[in-house]
Amino acid sequence: MSQATDTDVREDGIIESVSGPVVTARDLDARMNDVVYVGSEGLMGEVIEIEGNITTIQVYEETSGVSPGEPVEGTGSPLSVDLGPGMLDAIYDGVQRPLDVLEEKMGSAFLDRGVDAPGIDLEKTWEFTPEVDEGDEVEAGDIVGTVPETPSIDHKVMVPPDSEGGEVVAIESGNFNVEETVVELDNGEEIQMHQEWPVRQQRPTVEKETPTEPLISGQRVLDGLFPIAKGGTAAIPGPFGSGKTVTQHQLAKWADADIVVYVGCGERGNEMTEVIEDFPELEDPTTGNALMDRTCLIANTSNMPVAARESCVYTGITIAEYFRDMGYDVALMADSTSRWAEAMREISSRLEEMPGEEGYPAYLSARLSEFYERAGYFENINGTEGSVSVIGAVSPPGGDFSEPVTQNTLRIVKTFWALDADLAERRHFPSINWNESYSLYRDQLDPWFEDNVRADWPETRQWAIDTLDEEAELQEIVQLVGKDALPEDQQLTLEIARYLREAWLQQNAFHDVDTFCEPEKTYRIMDAAKTYNDAAFEALDAGVPVEEITDIDAAPRLNRIGVQEDYNEYIDDLEDDIESQLRELY
Ligand SMILES: Nc1ncnc2c1ncn2[C@@H]1O[C@H](COP(=O)(O)OP(=O)(O)OP(=O)(O)O)[C@@H](O)[C@H]1O
Ligand SMILES: [Mg+2]
Repeated sequence: MSQATDTDVREDGIIESVSGPVVTARDLDARMNDVVYVGSEGLMGEVIEIEGNITTIQVYEETSGVSPGEPVEGTGSPLSVDLGPGMLDAIYDGVQRPLDVLEEKMGSAFLDRGVDAPGIDLEKTWEFTPEVDEGDEVEAGDIVGTVPETPSIDHKVMVPPDSEGGEVVAIESGNFNVEETVVELDNGEEIQMHQEWPVRQQRPTVEKETPTEPLISGQRVLDGLFPIAKGGTAAIPGPFGSGKTVTQHQLAKWADADIVVYVGCGERGNEMTEVIEDFPELEDPTTGNALMDRTCLIANTSNMPVAARESCVYTGITIAEYFRDMGYDVALMADSTSRWAEAMREISSRLEEMPGEEGYPAYLSARLSEFYERAGYFENINGTEGSVSVIGAVSPPGGDFSEPVTQNTLRIVKTFWALDADLAERRHFPSINWNESYSLYRDQLDPWFEDNVRADWPETRQWAIDTLDEEAELQEIVQLVGKDALPEDQQLTLEIARYLREAWLQQNAFHDVDTFCEPEKTYRIMDAAKTYNDAAFEALDAGVPVEEITDIDAAPRLNRIGVQEDYNEYIDDLEDDIESQLRELY
């Protein structure tokens, strides 16, 4: 987070009242969203309301011990993030203070009152390579050079979006820290590798485009049935323990984004500890480099101050937009947006605002849509294209999807991955309910799957959907009269659908091989089930009893495809065996 310079410090105010994270001050010369330092300890806060002489501030740190009469100091600048090389592989709190730096300063990551630290290392030097020459004209957003930030990612140094641009009069390669000037323009403007941007303001773009590429997740049920686009939005609602966090982690690990921003928002500390311990060990499947080389973590766990939870999603999305501006595909995961909404509710109630549904502020839905609106596939102001995909977990109390956060999110996002307590209880993982979930991107992404995986991807998937739909209908009858009362062809459909569920939809996140499934493998498992289906119905038509068809000993091998590394060979053999074993029956 940026620190104010002495020149823009404004008139001090005096604390009038303290109510949890909400503090009011009188006589403070400040504007909406300005950062202020509260009390004699100088706790970081943000102006959220101004009424006459009274300024209301949300404070990003614990306020116990802060009392009326203590000073409040304005900075004259809005809550902003520091953007520049050094954000990847970092772990921040909700206002972009690096947790490792805080830990060194304070001895604990979670005892952080009154400590400020810049979001990026100001002293570290980076090797800057110019991309433009002296005499070139540059405009806002233009890429003027690159820095090898990590083995995976070249950081593009850009002219800040609010620059007027001009002719480059000085630029050279070399090692610089982020505060040193790397480019000078004819109008005297000096450009550094580092810029600031107010978190609550979307970074400018030229145009939002219709996304046509999937964000491949490596999870069969998602890529196969409910794909999200690069630049798309998705929600993962689910009751306690149904797999929201595991799904978010799987996406952070395996999604084919260039950059991942993972926001742990208000969840238990141990879930974030898992991320912090787990991720640095992981390898990026596309580059073979460390996964953290393309990852930025933001942690505001349940034991950290509530106001910083309100800001952590904005810090995250602003960082995501900055990498998008470089032309990268960025994926942001927020776990959980419900805790963010609860932070809004708590602050709103301290402000004594008129409560809306279930005590949430009336602006809940506006805030949610403003946040998801920042996702998209964009033409950037420098002419590159980049995307921000946003995937938010939702934790409805009691798993009741009719509550306000789930309902408002549903109206905004285009992909809905509904987790289901019954499936989780039956150990069907990922417990994404295929009857309730949907993706509005499915049709627009089909051409990509046709061109990059198989031309008959849409037809094969439609067969799988129809089979699962039919199963759902038949299950209702089975509940009433039992399976044996069904005609043989329907019994066979139930058996095929079972394999689709067990071999295709189920996927073990904790198995070395099964944890990630490339689209080709997703296709082949689905197609193997269809091969069994087609051969089985032929046998049935030829008069073979259904029990004999479902008894062939090759069929259960379908359920072991997921864990096969050399799946192509395995599936080729399996399909041959299924067909010949069925053929032998008539
Ligand atoms: N894809 C998966 N593969 C295997 N096991 C899974 C999978 N998804 C979830 N699980 C199991 O379910 C457990 C609970 O999952 P998770 O912690 O993600 O739930 P959650 O919805 O985030 O819960 P909470 O509401 O408590 O945050 C996991 O510890 C794991 O045992
Ligand atoms: Mg969780």
